[in-house]
Amino acid sequence: MAVLDVKGICKTFDKNTVVLRGIDFSLEKGESVAIIGSSGSGKTTLLRCLNFLTTPDEGKILVNGETLFDADDPATQKESEIRRKRLHFGLVFQNFNLFPQYTALQNVMLASELLAKEQPDYHTRKKELHEEIRQNAEKLLKDVGLGEKMNLYPHQLSGGQQQRVAIARALALKPDILCFDEPTSALDPELTGEVLRVIRSLAEQKMTMIIVTHEMAFARDVADRVIFMDGGVIVEQGASHQVIEHPTQERTRQFLSRYAEN
Ligand SMILES: Nc1ncnc2c1ncn2[C@@H]1O[C@H](COP(=O)(O)OP(=O)(O)OP(=O)(O)O)[C@@H](O)[C@H]1O
Ligand SMILES: [Mg+2]
Repeated sequence: MAVLDVKGICKTFDKNTVVLRGIDFSLEKGESVAIIGSSGSGKTTLLRCLNFLTTPDEGKILVNGETLFDADDPATQKESEIRRKRLHFGLVFQNFNLFPQYTALQNVMLASELLAKEQPDYHTRKKELHEEIRQNAEKLLKDVGLGEKMNLYPHQLSGGQQQRVAIARALALKPDILCFDEPTSALDPELTGEVLRVIRSLAEQKMTMIIVTHEMAFARDVADRVIFMDGGVIVEQGASHQVIEHPTQERTRQFLSRYAEN
C-alpha cells in the first residue's frame, strides 16, 4: 500500500490564479521523489497543500490509506484535526525558519515537548518524558553532524548548520513523509554539499521523502523518482535517471536544456 496518495489536487488563488490543475501521484514507503520545474509551476503550493498550510479546492490526500483530506467531505477539514494530520509530514523550508531565541537542541525538542504536555499522564511522567525527548533530539543532532553544536543559537551557526538543525527538527516527530522545499537554494555553494549529504543519507536509510529541488544531478542520483511540473500539472514522471537523462516530453526537454545552459 502507498504511504501517500494524492488525487486530483487543484488550487486557485484569488478566483483566477489557477496554480494546481489536477495533481496525481503516490509514494511507496521508503521511496524518495524529487519534484523539479520552473519558477511558478506550483511546487511550493503543492507541498503547502500536503502539509495543510493551504487548503486545496479539489482532490484528496490519503496517508497509509487514511483519507486526511477530501475536498468533497467537510468532516475531513475540521480545524481541530489538522494539527494531528500535520504530524504525518515533516517540512524543511528554504530559509530554515529556526526559532532564534532557542538553541539548536531546544529547537529540535520544542514540538515534541508541546506534544508531550498534551498527554494525560504528563505530570506524573514529566521528567522521564523530558529525558526521552532530549536523548532523541541529541541523537538526531549527532546524526546530522552537529553533536558539538547543540547548545549554540541559530545566529552562531552557518546556513548549512542551521539547515541541518531544521532537518533534525523535522525528524523529531517521526513523520511518515519528509518534505523539502529547495533545501539548499538559500545557501552559499560551499555549504550545499553538507546538507545534500544529510538528505542522501536519509534516502539510504529509506526515509520516505518529497524533495523540491533545482539540483538536477542530486535529483538524478539520490531520488528514486522524478516528477516534472509545469503550469500546475505533472508533465512527466518516472525513474530519476530516465526523466533527467532521457525525458520523453518536449516541455521537460526544454526545461532541462535551460538548466544545462546555466
Ligand atoms: N497565497 C497566494 N496567493 C496568490 N497567489 C499565490 C499564492 N501562493 C502562490 N501563488 C502563485 O502561485 C504560483 C505558483 O507558486 P509556487 O510558489 O507554488 O511556485 P514554485 O513552483 O514553488 O516556484 P519557485 O520555483 O519560484 O519556488 C505563482 O504564480 C504564485 O504567484
Ligand atoms: Mg517554491
